[in-house]
Amino acid sequence: MSLVSPDRRPALHAAARAASGRAYAPYSRFHVGAALLFEDGAIVTGANAENASYGLSLCAETAAVASAMNSGRRGGLLAVAVFGGPAGPSGEATPGAEPVTPCGRCRQVLNELAQLGATDPEIHCLGAREVVVELRLSELLPRAFGPASLG
Ligand code: THU
Repeated sequence: MSLVSPDRRPALHAAARAASGRAYAPYSRFHVGAALLFEDGAIVTGANAENASYGLSLCAETAAVASAMNSGRRGGLLAVAVFGGPAGPSGEATPGAEPVTPCGRCRQVLNELAQLGATDPEIHCLGAREVVVELRLSELLPRAFGPASLG
């Protein structure tokens, strides 16, 4: 059973798409938007923010987690939608057939917020024509190291 109610699903996906339009990615021109859905129904978004020192670029998922944590959230993460691809004319990403999945660092960053609230969020990776690869975070990051590991 999905953790996301059918009526919240379109809003979550639309939020990730809209967030991709706010990416700052002049170097890769690869725009990514992420949207986090919380137990209280709130959706918090982020987009990638690149840097002239390329390796310092921030991913969309990490930006979204930082935003959520800076507004006081410490758990309750139910689902994450990711919408990424080359920037289209509107600035929003144009995903290919194979959806973008969160990079390794983002999986670890998402895990912090998930473990704090003892949830195993769904990760919705959005491809062309809304094709979704849907996994749990524990499938993307099995046997994760997190706050619970510190005892
Ligand atoms: N990127 C993300 O924002 N999230 C991911 O999970 C994968 C990669 C960004 C980083 C960089 O700005 C651009 O996509 C190309 O790698």
